[in-house]
Amino acid sequence: MCGIVGYVGERRALPLLIEGLKRLEYRGYDSAGVAMMEDHTLQVTKSAGRVAVLEQMLDFDGSKATTGIAHTRWATHGAPNDANAHPHTDASGRIALVHNGIIENYTAFKKYLEQKGVVFATETDTEVLVQLIGCRYKGNLEKAVREALAEIHGTFGIAVVCSEEPGIIVAARRGSPLLIGVGQGEYLVASDASAILAHTSQVAYLSDNEMAVISADGLRTTTLDNIPVTKDIQEVEWTLDQIELAGHDHFMEKEIFEQPEAMRNCMRGRVDLGEGKVHLGGIADVAREITRAKRIILTACGTAWHAGLVGEYLFEDLGRIPTEVEYASEFRYRNPVIEDGTVVIAISQSGETADTLAALSEARERGALALGVVNVVGSSIARETDAGIYLHVGPEIGVASTKAFCGQVAVLAMMASYMGRRRHLSQSTTQEFLEALARIPEQMEQALENSDQAKTIAEACAQRENWLYLGRGYQYPVALEGALKLKEISYIHAEGLPAAEMKHGPIALINDGMPVVFIATQGSQYEKIISNIEQVRARGGRVIAVATKGDHGITKLATDVLYVPHTLEPLQPLLTVIPLQLIAYHAAVTRGCNVDKPRNLAKSVTVE
Ligand code: AGP
Ligand code: GLU
Repeated sequence: MCGIVGYVGERRALPLLIEGLKRLEYRGYDSAGVAMMEDHTLQVTKSAGRVAVLEQMLDFDGSKATTGIAHTRWATHGAPNDANAHPHTDASGRIALVHNGIIENYTAFKKYLEQKGVVFATETDTEVLVQLIGCRYKGNLEKAVREALAEIHGTFGIAVVCSEEPGIIVAARRGSPLLIGVGQGEYLVASDASAILAHTSQVAYLSDNEMAVISADGLRTTTLDNIPVTKDIQEVEWTLDQIELAGHDHFMEKEIFEQPEAMRNCMRGRVDLGEGKVHLGGIADVAREITRAKRIILTACGTAWHAGLVGEYLFEDLGRIPTEVEYASEFRYRNPVIEDGTVVIAISQSGETADTLAALSEARERGALALGVVNVVGSSIARETDAGIYLHVGPEIGVASTKAFCGQVAVLAMMASYMGRRRHLSQSTTQEFLEALARIPEQMEQALENSDQAKTIAEACAQRENWLYLGRGYQYPVALEGALKLKEISYIHAEGLPAAEMKHGPIALINDGMPVVFIATQGSQYEKIISNIEQVRARGGRVIAVATKGDHGITKLATDVLYVPHTLEPLQPLLTVIPLQLIAYHAAVTRGCNVDKPRNLAKSVTVE
């Protein structure tokens, strides 16, 4: 999620805040805003679009404010428009707040506050928090914030100001990073140090469920339960570049390693283990139509299409609904048959891919129920749908899609469970599936431990110009995805295939030392994939296997084995894709390629 900057001290705050927002632009965002406090007056300026748009709206020379908060938004709830941009204010207009994260129980509180007469001005989850603080405010901002935070669920990094208490900023965090910069007679709050390094390198990192109150008089830190906490003031040693990449060398590497957290955000408030069910608010209004669907068509491009292929297996396996996945560029032109009861689901990270948008519109015009599985809130595809589910994996900067693929598969898995439970899945089967899904983030952490081994393999094979990726069942889409990752960032030719297809021609390609990647995790077709490995090995291929932790037998057949934890077969793609992402990444680095901006590629293909 995106960026927060706050300042309290003796200097004019506005220039510092805007400069800080610009330092946070690398995180990806869709809107920006500031709230300035001058005497007892709060001035909020905000807009959709770039920080440069916001700058044009501000009176830099006129603002004498020495206290202020600022925000860059990555929308999760509510389209990226002027009204939904942060800061948000409470009904009285006395309190302004900026927020990074997701308020899970905002719907319930929104209803509660509306019944108390609160009129909401935005579609966001965040406004519920500031209105709740406004309701709790009795002259002590810190206390009101504490009381409100005690009632909400979800993640937050927040900064709050109040016109009744000028010169004070209250900050708090749970799940979204926040730090306090300690200057000479001034304090800053920020999502990361890049926003404030120009002013101080002395910072205190807030931990989860901690709060800070900053003013010209100093910094006070407590737990959310108001227990005093002493924070170490640390020296920031990173350079600005390092901070933007959080210590990684490339955004793609950062996003590969963000996947456990991205999964937690994707599933937050949606996987209910207590009830053994999935809550998908974005499709609640069309739940009956989906449940009664006679056919599902998944349409997408590239990596999103590979996620859709996993979705095809999931929907038929768990949902028992006839499902097909279509390349959007083909589907839009082939005069498809759309009967009653057809649901078309467009899958897209950017929500702007021209072919996918056109395919969705075509299906909608022919009477299909149009759904979206999209990462960018308020994007063109999201707006074209009747309903949909956002990924909530945060902005994906690297051109090669990684965390968005896993977000798409996770959402499709939740949808399959959602539909299956309404059709034939028992409570216990659903419970087992969701418990396995809930374990995926921690298991991803383990799969990421393969990075050094993936680097060794990549360095050994990076000069080979032809690779094969093979898988069966749920692992076939992963083979396709692994091949695409290698192709698009290292420019090595790679082909993904169903493993059984080898004997129908491609096995003629195998020559001595050719890298052949098998996704050979234990599952319904394990013995068959072992047989395919032996066929390749017999012809001199270098077998690189992704296998289930504890499978020692495969080491006799494969030159390299990368292990992932055991999980249910339908969920294995979320883990087996990680070693393949890492191999592709390290191969591209070894070959000196531009990992984040590969030649000829764009992050979003908005043309045909
Ligand atoms: C994947 O790594 C590529 N960047 C590309 O195939 C991408 O998945 C495709 O262009 C679809 O993009 P979308 O998800 O934004 O629609
Ligand atoms: N959930 C909030 C919103 O959609 C905050 C998003 C963010 O982290 O920028 O406005």
